[in-house]
This record gives sequence, structure tokens and C-alpha cells, in this order.
Amino acid sequence: MGKQIEEQKVMNYESQIQELLSQLTLEEKVGMIHGKGLFCNKAVERLGIPQLVTSDGPMGVRMEFPDDSWIPVGKSDDYVTYNPSNSALAATWNPRLAYESGKVLGEEARGRGKDVILAPGINIKRDPLCGRNFEYMSEDPCLIEALTVPFIQGVQESDVAACVKHFAVNNQETDRLAVDTLVDERTLREIYLPGFRAAVQEGGTYSLMNAYNKFRGVFCSENRELLDGILREEWGYDGTVISDWGSVHSTKGTAEVSMDLEMSVTSDFDEYYLANPLIQAVKNGEVSEASIDAKVRNLLRMMFRLKMLGEEAPNRKQGSYNTPEHQQKTLETARESIVLLKNEPSDCGGKQGGRLLPLTEDRLAPVPVRAESDGRIVSVRKHKIAVIGHNGEHLHACGGGSAEIKALYEVSPLLGLKKALGGNVEIRYAQGYYIPGKKDVNEVNWQEASLERQVMGQESADSEEQRALREEIARNRRVLLEEACALAKEADTVIFVGGLNHDYDTEGRDRADMKLPYGQDELAEALLDINPDTIFVMVAGSPVEMPWRQRVKALVWCYYSGMETGDALAEILLGRVNPSGRLPETFPAVYEDTVTYKNGQFGLEGSVEYREGTFVGYRYYEKEGIRPAFSFGYGLSYTDFAMNQLRVKAQSEEEVVLTLEVANTGHMAGSEVVQCYVTDCECSVERPVKELKAFQKIFLQPGEKREVSLTLPRKAFSFYDVMQKSFVVEPGSFLLQVGNASDNCKLQVEITL
Ligand code: BGC
Repeated sequence: MGKQIEEQKVMNYESQIQELLSQLTLEEKVGMIHGKGLFCNKAVERLGIPQLVTSDGPMGVRMEFPDDSWIPVGKSDDYVTYNPSNSALAATWNPRLAYESGKVLGEEARGRGKDVILAPGINIKRDPLCGRNFEYMSEDPCLIEALTVPFIQGVQESDVAACVKHFAVNNQETDRLAVDTLVDERTLREIYLPGFRAAVQEGGTYSLMNAYNKFRGVFCSENRELLDGILREEWGYDGTVISDWGSVHSTKGTAEVSMDLEMSVTSDFDEYYLANPLIQAVKNGEVSEASIDAKVRNLLRMMFRLKMLGEEAPNRKQGSYNTPEHQQKTLETARESIVLLKNEPSDCGGKQGGRLLPLTEDRLAPVPVRAESDGRIVSVRKHKIAVIGHNGEHLHACGGGSAEIKALYEVSPLLGLKKALGGNVEIRYAQGYYIPGKKDVNEVNWQEASLERQVMGQESADSEEQRALREEIARNRRVLLEEACALAKEADTVIFVGGLNHDYDTEGRDRADMKLPYGQDELAEALLDINPDTIFVMVAGSPVEMPWRQRVKALVWCYYSGMETGDALAEILLGRVNPSGRLPETFPAVYEDTVTYKNGQFGLEGSVEYREGTFVGYRYYEKEGIRPAFSFGYGLSYTDFAMNQLRVKAQSEEEVVLTLEVANTGHMAGSEVVQCYVTDCECSVERPVKELKAFQKIFLQPGEKREVSLTLPRKAFSFYDVMQKSFVVEPGSFLLQVGNASDNCKLQVEITL
């Protein structure tokens, strides 16, 4: 019945769309398919067709811009809820939270009067250095699919379109506007497209953004193979394709593929390729008006779905922003996004089997001050915590490129700890590492300032000014290091909060290496010399080398987790919440271990050949037997889990259902992420050693046991056969491994298909 109504509606739309189309002039149609402001197209008031208003982006609804300038309007009404970044969301491994995050974003977008929110970004993390990795989810298509679908559904419940980006094979920022990506067909289908396919066919996304780059020699904005072939014909997509801003390069070429709305970065709106030049081309007979109609149809269809048009328009949702509910949802997601990477016994003992974390109340208790004469307690001295490191108090919302937003508030780690601990604990902060600011740059270019390691590393002959700058940076660094060490010596507990910021995790630029910037490695070693129990918190959007990691006992990873980062982090450090985040990507020990370093095919200008094929992320490390610093799917908890009794519950042509028993054998309630990896034991093509094909996050009370089932659809066993042009399952045996990380699967069963 529901389906019938849906089909009926679509038919209704189609006849109404046709009617509108027949009344539109060529100029009006062209007005609808290109930007007339930086984030909107042109309305056709005469026919009641409103303009379409878009906005970035993935972590919240971006601030307002005037129609013709990139200088923000600068008013106080565009502060919003700051959602956890997509990398943080992916670290929750929780589809329910993906739905909630999408719902928050959709409601806020609608609340701000937007029609399309330019999110989520779902490109594969092919290399740890890609500047936009923080905006993306994972190196693994199965995890991306599982989170993207509910995210889109959450957004679109508010009568706002998701705009899934960047379609397709957009995995580096170097030469981002033009680089040609060359990827073989099987890899394309198995690694780079599944997220987009799921977004279209399962998520029902109303819109999609084409990528800047070329794909096999042709810009994605006019790529027939991608847009007409795969997207429309194969996947049956009837939504809108919006160009990335400034990604269109031709009139005829773009007009004749199914890319529907040209957006760009200049205010010469009439000069856009799909503006006056298009009208001219139609008049000259170079482009048919039918190709314009096809675009307008796609736009109108989306507008009907969004209740911008038609008889349902009076019922369009109004949305809301900055509600306490939204803030609460970001907190829930932030909590589950934090990943505990190490937790070893401390020198001072304590509860939880003597592990360094959590910092339970007894560890932070005031220290009695006793009378010298008889040992009587005369008062207490507060427990002293030193929070060291610029990320302890730095706010990240308003950075990173188009993902920047004006957060209504953002709780820093320092603020979170102070709020959580109150007045009986003394918390002092030292910046610890020096970040060269504008005042140091003077005439030196910004890149040298923000990527100061390049300046520090430059030995070649350079100007007096640069030498002076280097010296000043070194001097400032020394001063802050000494100050931090002095504070650490006095403290009972030392927490180092370092990592990256949006000078590094940013659109438009890839990182030059995987090292921690600003001399943090030196600071890290110095703090460990002073206090071997120093707790490490890394806030960053992509992996960094941590050469000191063997010495560290407690290490917590925090992607940019939104406005409640500090509260969530404090709850985790203090054991009020049990960590349950898992890495959505592999953290290699050193950059030189990555396949892209070895094949030299990342960050090149001109063209990049994805020579590693399907061996991306853990698929590569597993094949080569390279031990990463921390593996895909990995993350610790304050409790322990046991997995037992894996068996095949049902097997049919369509699916295989596994069950196993998962128990919380520790003392604290917590969540485990049960992961199932599939190995094709014998195959006519070379396949990854194992691939994630199903997972489930479950919450268990101490002592609780539960049966978990995992369903593997037939497709989970398939590979893309380039000859047959489809996914095929080769009969034979398959190994199904279950565990809690890609390299920790203790249970296995073999099946024959
Ligand atoms: C980015 C997109 C973004 C658009 C609009 C582009 O530079 O690549 O992700 O949505 O700008 O700001």
C-alpha cells in the first residue's frame, strides 16, 4: 500500500512537472540550472517556483554569506549546533547515531531555511594525508554504506535534501580542481562506488554533488560514464546532481550529461557555463532544449519531494536549530566517537586492574596535609591536574574549509574537565607547543606560517627574515616547553592534549607528512620523562605518527567530535562513560608503510593512478603482513568482552546468518563492536585477505550475555567481474571471521556456497 502511494505521488509529480515545464521559457529554465547567488539558483516567481537554497556542510549548517561575496554576513543569527565530523561519526560504528546526526543536521538546515545541505562527504580515505579526510568516514566501503544510508534518511526527514559528495573518486586535495584519477573497473566498483550506490538506492538521496577531479580523463561534472551510465542508467537515480563549486568546465559537454545545477565561486552569474553561454548554444542549435528540460525536470522532482512545490507545500516541516535536543544528540555521538587506544597499568595502581584510566574519584581525591607533630590531618591539598597542549583549549568548529561553521558553543577538553570536576581539584593549563600566528608571518607566506615545520626544516639559503622567523619560532617553542615541563613536575596527574587542527585537516591542501606538527614529539617525550603516567589525548581528523607510543600507558583518540567534545572526553577520562569508539581507518606506524607511499601515487599533480587496486587500508596491510600502530576496527573499553559459539544459523541462496554469544565479563557496562570479515578461500581473481561485511554494536551490562546475529547477504561474498560487468559469487568455500578488530578475529567458521 505504502509503495503504491509513493508511486502514485511520483506519477503526480511527473504530470505536474511536465505542466510546469511547458510553461517555462528558455531563459527561466536556464535561470534554474545555474547559481544566481553563491548558494542559490533563480526562482520563477510567475509560476510559484521558489529558489533553491543550499548550504554547507557536514558538521553543521554553515554561516550566511551574501549572494555575491565570500565574506560572511557576520550577524549573530547563524550560530548553530556543531555536529561531530564524519570521521568522528564513523568511529562510533553506530548506524543509529548516524541517523540521529543526520536528523540534527536536517532539522537545523530546515530551521535555517535551507533546501539542500551539502553533506555527507563519503569519499574513501585512500591515504592518511588527504586534507579532507576529517570530513570523510572511512577506508572501508561496508562501514561507509552502513552509516551513510541512515544519515541521509535522518536528514531528509526534515524535507531537506542531503547532497552526497563528492561523486566520484575524489581522494586528494593536491591539484584537486583538475587531477585525473585512473582507477581500474573492479576497484572502482568494489571500493570507490559502493557508498554512493547505497546512498542512491538505499538512502534515497535527493541530490548528489559531482567531484572536482577528472575521472579517466573527463571532468566528473561532464562525465558520461559516471553520470549517465552508472548513476542514472544502472542505479536508476532520478534525483538532482549539483556541481561542486566551480567544477564545471564547458557548456555543451555539461549540458548534454545529466548534471543539473551549475554552482560556482564567482559572482559573474550570467557568465556561468550553464547561463548566457547556454542560451546562446541553444539558439545556435549546438545544444538541444531537451537536454535543459531534463535538468529542470530533475530539479523540480526534488522540489516536489521537499514539499517546496505542490499541494503538500503547506505541510513542509519548519525545522529548528540550537535546540537542547540537538545538543544532547551531539553529546551522545561524541561519547561513542572517542577511541581508547591504550590503557596499561599505571605506576600508582588503583581500581580497574590498576590501569591508568579511568581517573576514578579515589585517584583525584584531595591529599591530606598532616601536622608534623602527630600526623593529624589539618587540612587537604587539592589534587593537581596539569592539562598541557594547545588542543586542550583550542576550538575547532570554525575551520577546515567549506566545513567551517559558527558553533553556538564548543566545549574544549579543558572546559569539559573543569566542568566535570568542580572546585576540589586544581586544574592548570599550559599551552605546551607553539603555533606560529599571523604576527610571526609578516611578509612570509601563510603556508610557511601554518605549516611551520617546512620553515623549521629549510636549510637552504633563505632570507634574513625567514631566518629570524625560524629563530623566533624556536625561541617560543623552548619557552612553552619549559613552562609545560615545570607545570608537569608539580602536578599529580598530567594530561597531554595534542594532535592536529584545521591548519592541517583542511580542504584545499594535503598534509606533507604524517608527523605531529609544532614540535609536539619533543614535548611528548619530555612529559613522559617527567611523568611516565602522562595521559595522552590526541585530537585530530586523520592519523599521525606517534613515535613515543610504546612509552605511553594511556592514549585516547578524539576526532573532531563537535560542540560537546570536551564534555564527552571528560566523561570518558573520568570513567563516567565507557569508551566504545573503534577506528574507522588503519593508523599506520609510519607513513612509509602506506601503499600510496610505496607506489608513489598520491598527492601528484596531473594524474594519479590507483595502482594498489582494491588493496586500500587494512586490505593492504593484511596482504603484506605490515603491523600498523593501530588496526582498523580497533578500540578498547574499560570492561572486557568475550565472544563464543560462532555458528551458522541459516544459509540460503540469498543470505547467510551467523550467530554468536557475546558476554560482558568485566565490571562496567559497555559496548562491544562485533565485526565479521569474509575471506574467499579460492578465487579466480586476487581478493583481499579479508573484508568487513557485517558488524553490530551492542551494549551489555556487567555479567550480561547476549546472542548476536549477523546477516551476510549474498553480495557479501561477491567480487566485481569485469567481463560480466556485474558482481558475481564464485562457488567454493569462504571463511567467516568474527572479532573486535580487523586483526583480532578469534572466531571463525567455514562455509561452502
Ligand atoms: C567543496 C564542497 C563544498 C562547496 C561549497 C567546495 O569547495 O569542495 O564540498 O560543498 O565548496 O562551499
